Amino acid sequence: MIDADLAVTNIGELATPVGHAPRLGPDLGRLRVVPGAAVACREGRIVFVGDAEAFRATVRLLPKAATLDARGGTVLPGFVDAHTHLPFAGWREGEFAERLRGATYSEIAARGGGILSTVAKTRAADVATLAALVRERLDAMLSLGTTLVEAKSGYGLTVDDEVKQLAAIRAGAEGHPVEVVATFLGAHTVPAEWRADRARYVALVIREMLPRVAGSGLATYADAFVDAHAFTLAEARSILEAARALGLGVRLHADQLADDGAAELAAELGAASADHLEFVSPRGIDALAKSGTVAVLLPAATHFLMQERKPPVRALIDGGVPVAVATDFNPGSCPTESMGTALELACLSHRLSVDEAIAAATLNAAHALGRSGETGSLEVGKRADLVVHAVPNRHHLVYRFGVPRVAAVVAAGRIVRTAEPVPSR
Ligand code: NIG
Ligand code: FE
Repeated sequence: MIDADLAVTNIGELATPVGHAPRLGPDLGRLRVVPGAAVACREGRIVFVGDAEAFRATVRLLPKAATLDARGGTVLPGFVDAHTHLPFAGWREGEFAERLRGATYSEIAARGGGILSTVAKTRAADVATLAALVRERLDAMLSLGTTLVEAKSGYGLTVDDEVKQLAAIRAGAEGHPVEVVATFLGAHTVPAEWRADRARYVALVIREMLPRVAGSGLATYADAFVDAHAFTLAEARSILEAARALGLGVRLHADQLADDGAAELAAELGAASADHLEFVSPRGIDALAKSGTVAVLLPAATHFLMQERKPPVRALIDGGVPVAVATDFNPGSCPTESMGTALELACLSHRLSVDEAIAAATLNAAHALGRSGETGSLEVGKRADLVVHAVPNRHHLVYRFGVPRVAAVVAAGRIVRTAEPVPSR
């Protein structure tokens, strides 16, 4: 018999990708689907996944075990949001109104709005204020079914303000059920005070910020934004090479608004991910497939920027690139914490199947954060991070779009949230 301290029973359908490696090509949409399922956990780990009959025959509940009745709902792994700009102060709804009147994201950035307006507000906020914001946003993400999230700095752009943002991520995430992986994004844009001498800002990132960040242990990855309003390919290369030399993993905002050859750079550097990719070239796709760099698609950002150009999603999948889906949560190009929304748009705008989108938003996203051995799928031995959605099967999550239906969340084997779900049958 298998002893358990938590059982999730009465599951209408359980769906999960399988394995510790990312799902590629035709395997992306191949999930393990178990109707009439149950899950058992012990000390935070999954010890059983299977049908109710096998559960009854093999699992023994320990005296103080908890039971979660899924009431016929659908159980998936917790969502993994592999790209967010979590610790910022202030919103930019005024710019949104301008964009609705026809202004573009690039025009707003060119006149000093955009990222720079959030930099001003984030510099003015102290670490406790930012940490409280991080925590509130993690609460929102958890309520929407996310159990692992990546969080970037990048609105400080001075040594102290970047470290302050990373410290706010650490403090805000302390003891929170959502696990957070932090990324240093000092190379988000060149701040106003260095625009006349951008080389010195790049030198500041390399010589002062990176050593301080790496020494602090506050970040696992470094990221850079390659764009006409941000950094050139050569600047990003020098920053990320320096990051790598200090032991940080690297990722890259790549080919979002033009084909900058940034996907190729991400591949060359062995980056964990190349993100956005609306304009990635066939050469970029080949390079990502060879390096195994995860293409993190951000369909909610593409949508919110009203970008006609979509990433070549089918070519990425068919080309053997591991594909993930994330939110890009930030105050400018994607002010939503909802992985459910990202999932819907991955299907409705980027034409992933529901099963492909689920694998992209869980196991492949966990791989993009170096965590696929630990979480991202529902399998014996993995951490028990799972969500009960109040729908009869996984297709309803996207088919009946626009309504979050999270009924319960289990993180590391603890029931951390239950909600009275909207009617689902
Ligand atoms: O991922 N692309 C650059 N950075 C963010 C936008 C940040 C902002 O507008 O504040 C993004 O889309
Ligand atoms: Fe981003």
